[in-house]
Amino acid sequence: MIRDRAVVVLAAGKGTRMRSARSKVLHEVAGQALIHYPVSLALSLGASRIVLVLGHQRAEVEASVRAAFPDAPVEVAVQAEQLGTAHAVLCARAALADFEGDVYLLSGDVPTLALRTVAALDAAAGDAPVAVLGMRLDEPAAYGRFVRADGALSQIVEARDCTPDQLAIDEVNAGIYRVDARFLFDALAGVGRDNAQGEFYLTDLVAAARAAGVAVADLVVSGDEAASLTGVNDRADLAAAEARAQQALRQQWMAAGVTMVDPASVWLDHRVQLASDVTLEPDVTLQGQTTIASGAHIERGARLTDSVIGADVRIRGGSYLEGAVVEAGCVVGPYARLREGSVLREGAKVGNFVETKKTELGAGAKASHLSYIGDAAVGAGANIGAGTITCNYDGVRKFRTEIGAGAFIGSDTQLVAPVRVGEGAFVGAGSTVTGDVPAGALALSRTPQRNIDGWVARKQARDAKKEA
Ligand code: UD1
Ligand code: MG
Repeated sequence: MIRDRAVVVLAAGKGTRMRSARSKVLHEVAGQALIHYPVSLALSLGASRIVLVLGHQRAEVEASVRAAFPDAPVEVAVQAEQLGTAHAVLCARAALADFEGDVYLLSGDVPTLALRTVAALDAAAGDAPVAVLGMRLDEPAAYGRFVRADGALSQIVEARDCTPDQLAIDEVNAGIYRVDARFLFDALAGVGRDNAQGEFYLTDLVAAARAAGVAVADLVVSGDEAASLTGVNDRADLAAAEARAQQALRQQWMAAGVTMVDPASVWLDHRVQLASDVTLEPDVTLQGQTTIASGAHIERGARLTDSVIGADVRIRGGSYLEGAVVEAGCVVGPYARLREGSVLREGAKVGNFVETKKTELGAGAKASHLSYIGDAAVGAGANIGAGTITCNYDGVRKFRTEIGAGAFIGSDTQLVAPVRVGEGAFVGAGSTVTGDVPAGALALSRTPQRNIDGWVARKQARDAKKEA
């Protein structure tokens, strides 16, 4: 029979060592708040209930989780005062009063714990009522030590409470457990606070189980898997967790057929989706919910945020895309900036030093050089000359510019919105367009040119006289 599963996430602590105004668990790894990791893992475990034990900045932490997981069975248990990890779990008791089955106890600050490690703990534990995950570390530091009697785990002793012999033990507590619900809450009620920190220690559960003759299983992992269990307590730990998460994401996408010329320099958000035969050059950053289709090639130093990139698109070096949609076969950059609401239809081209915002470029349309195109609709096949600017803002409100299919906008044109240029119309270079241009018309607004014959020679003669 499959037992019901609940997850309790301990995240009430302030995270003092982060030295941050923000709760530790709201700091991010791979674009995701630390607290989202155990919630996501809980969902993968098929947990029917997820109880977050929150204290510091609980409103902010809860709001962040609800926004990211609107449909998850998340409840919040408040631990107003942080009296220790056992006390924190007891705060979840009321929420799980009618729950029977396995309770997984996870930490809010261990983002790189993998589902397969929890599955390995399950496999090692069988039906033991208490199962504890441990890690073998060269530097066991401040972690609780696994003390064994005849090979079996008999107690976990916090570093501060260790004898010198115990301190030398390299098997330490990862702070991740699976405990039968009924045993858990009964045993925790009996845990005291007679220790160096005067706190209620969850780790005392092990000795309590032993005393009650309840089986305790453990799994100790080592190497990279052990590193994946290390928690985030300060900024250096945060950077180490980021590095591990990035490494895992890069490996995952390379295994899925993505070429990375210099993997270590590529930065990925956990939400990124990449098709096979995508190429990422060095120093590419993919943030938010960015999706890239097959055959697309992202050149050096590009940064894409919440953008959708179609098949065979080329994003040239140094381009920044934010909330942009780029359809198949488009070419962007180098050094282009596509801001929110930019849509490039199939085969469109945006060249160097072009900025777009809330603008759609129709299929095959081109803005190849040095332009600002904002709040605009550009028809298919239109050509926007170098230095064209949509003057979309009068200091108070924004206005739209519409450019018809096949229109030709000469270089250095200002389009003062609201304004429309009809299908196939031409605008002469250097024009300031303040009124609509009918389809098929030529608009010219510049001053007619005047040439003054012999002017230079006469000027030179005047200048020579002055010097004499
Ligand atoms: C704990 C373990 C230690 C283990 C380590 C692994 C205990 C007594 N010690 O120590 O054996 O090696 O984790 O990382 O359990 N929390 C609360 N309320 C509290 C106290 C803590 O919610 O009153 C939360 C924290 O926010 C954190 C987690 O519990 O997410 C762990 O607490 P922390 O203070 O970091 O425990 P450690 O000293 O690291
Ligand atoms: Mg900790």
